[in-house]
Amino acid sequence: MNALRHFLADDDLTPAEQTAVLALAAEMKADPFKHRPFEGPRSVAILSDKATLRTQLSFHAGVAELGGNPMFVDGRLAGIGTRESIADSAKVLSGHVSAIVWRTGAQQRIEEMAAQATVPVVNALTDEFHPCQVLADLQTITEHKGFLHGIRFGYVGDGANNMANSYLLGGALAGMHVRIGAPEGYQPDPAMVARAETIAAKVGGSVLITDSPLEAVRSADVVATDTWVSMGLEEENEARTVAFGAYQVNADLIDHADAEAIVMHCLPAYRGKEIMAEILDGPRAVIWDEAENRRHAQKAILTFLDRAARGE
Ligand code: NVA
Repeated sequence: MNALRHFLADDDLTPAEQTAVLALAAEMKADPFKHRPFEGPRSVAILSDKATLRTQLSFHAGVAELGGNPMFVDGRLAGIGTRESIADSAKVLSGHVSAIVWRTGAQQRIEEMAAQATVPVVNALTDEFHPCQVLADLQTITEHKGFLHGIRFGYVGDGANNMANSYLLGGALAGMHVRIGAPEGYQPDPAMVARAETIAAKVGGSVLITDSPLEAVRSADVVATDTWVSMGLEEENEARTVAFGAYQVNADLIDHADAEAIVMHCLPAYRGKEIMAEILDGPRAVIWDEAENRRHAQKAILTFLDRAARGE
């Protein structure tokens, strides 16, 4: 049966589906030109309302490897929701492409797109979630640690941003112990924490929110951070630099993690702010793997959604 599925937030996949997508991503990485589901070529629209390097590169290259035709659309030209309603744009897009990838602001915008589209919609970052990055990160953790279930994952910094939310949900789905260390005022929304806790209770992981960066990374297998100032929040730069000062990933903090801990950052990174250069450019960092795995993970999720839409 055909089932139109979207990937708007990490928990749009079940734990078993997440495992299957990650296995497919690993297969695709090992043999990048074997899977050609978009042969035709069928087109995939890659729309962006915000700055992008990894996203446009990885989706463009990935769709091409899948045999498809990637079409990058600059959101400033398209004016989705301003020049034209999201609903009308969704219908126009659905008439031309086999999947819609969108980087935008409010989560509600991508939900509206998905509600009106007749092809799968993939979240390539919203203010609330960055699920493609977390799939790539889970692939990266698997490569370096060999497994996900039971991994102690410590994230420090902005606990209320898209990466923190996606780590909460995606990490819980994978059965990890997700700890978020963030100052008060920048901790995840309680509803998001509850959503992750419900998943963790079923899968066997756990969720912890703390204002102590040390507690977040203690004995962690993975230490992660992200910019203190996400896209769109540039005016808060000064206040955030003060608020997050004690949440920097540096050698002192890493000393509290497991001796074999790896360090993650979705990039772009600001050396000397959320992470010290010696860590970001040091031997524990797996940032280039994360950046590359965007392509493999996204090829896998596009293929998964396409198979569902075509009833395969
Ligand atoms: N939290 C960051 C992630 C960038 C990939 C932002 O939204 O700007």
